[in-house]
Amino acid sequence: MSETTQIPPSHSDQPQGSRFEPGPATVVKSEPLAPNLQLLTVHAPAVAAKIQPGQFIILRADEHGERVPLTVADWDREAGTVSCVFMQVGTSTYKLGELKEGDVVPTFVGPLGKAVELDKWGTVMCAGGCYGIAGIYPIARGLKELGNEVIVFIEGRSGFLLYWLDKLEAVADRVIIATRDGSLGEKEGYPHAVGRMLDEGEQVDRVVAIGCTFMMYEMSETTRPFEVKTIVSLNPIMIDGTGMCGACRVSVDGETRFACVDGPDFDGHQVDWDLLFSRRKAYLRPETDSAER
Ligand SMILES: Cc1cc2nc3c(=O)[nH]c(=O)nc-3n(C[C@H](O)[C@H](O)[C@H](O)COP(=O)(O)OP(=O)(O)OC[C@H]3O[C@@H](n4cnc5c(N)ncnc54)[C@H](O)[C@@H]3O)c2cc1C
Ligand code: FES
Repeated sequence: MSETTQIPPSHSDQPQGSRFEPGPATVVKSEPLAPNLQLLTVHAPAVAAKIQPGQFIILRADEHGERVPLTVADWDREAGTVSCVFMQVGTSTYKLGELKEGDVVPTFVGPLGKAVELDKWGTVMCAGGCYGIAGIYPIARGLKELGNEVIVFIEGRSGFLLYWLDKLEAVADRVIIATRDGSLGEKEGYPHAVGRMLDEGEQVDRVVAIGCTFMMYEMSETTRPFEVKTIVSLNPIMIDGTGMCGACRVSVDGETRFACVDGPDFDGHQVDWDLLFSRRKAYLRPETDSAER
């Protein structure tokens, strides 16, 4: 059975009471953007009609697959399509990478989570690494539409791992690139490049960062001494994505929050990063065994 569940944004903080809209989610496009990084576009009109920057969807590659949360990277409301970019890291994302045009995704649930807060803040840095290069795109676009000066800062180990530069350039005032091997843009990684910019007095009123947990942690620690509010999109282990199972528990400003319904965006200066890192490692052994099998 195929299902598409759509949760209206007005109810996205109370998903238990949301409406349920079954329908097919068919793969429209699946293409590699870089090694291990895949773009997936599906036809899911009910989700495309409502999704907002910062929200995510949950899908399964097949009837027996795990539920995989993915940040929305783009959508076309008229065509009824939703796009995500994922990194192949284990069993479920390897299976997602095998989907082809015309395949039906048996579960495609969303929009989930709260939309990221967008307002006119002045100069906003949108930082993305890995799948976050795509995740940051609709946020940068939304911020630009509201009249902000948008600096997009993207990072990868090497230049060939970066993608969507043209899309990002179209919505940003400036795109800064950093690669750890120096093959493209700045050679220094995020913390140094951003720290140096802030040290030199560059005006940045807010940072929004999406990427691996370590990247978001580093960004938060870099901006903390400069007191630049830094919003991060947390990616703890999730199961149901509706606030029922507790798997995505995080601690923010000393309070327990569920990333799937209270987030996924939180103030990076208030996140208990040690707890997040240790909870993310909880299933490492079974995940590795599963991927090897
Ligand atoms: C709100 C949210 C948005 C996300 N957006 C994206 C995205 O846009 N693109 C992308 O590539 N990845 C995204 N992730 C992470 C993605 O969901 C996991 O990489 C994926 O579930 C791994 O499944 P797997 O079976 O392939 O790997 P596994 O073998 O299960 O695990 C491999 C690694 O992924 C981590 N992981 C496993 N399950 C989850 C999970 N449910 N949530 C988070 N991490 C997990 C593990 O800690 C491990 O390090 C997001 C996660 C969350 C919570
Ligand atoms: S994933 Fe179950 S409570 Fe968030």
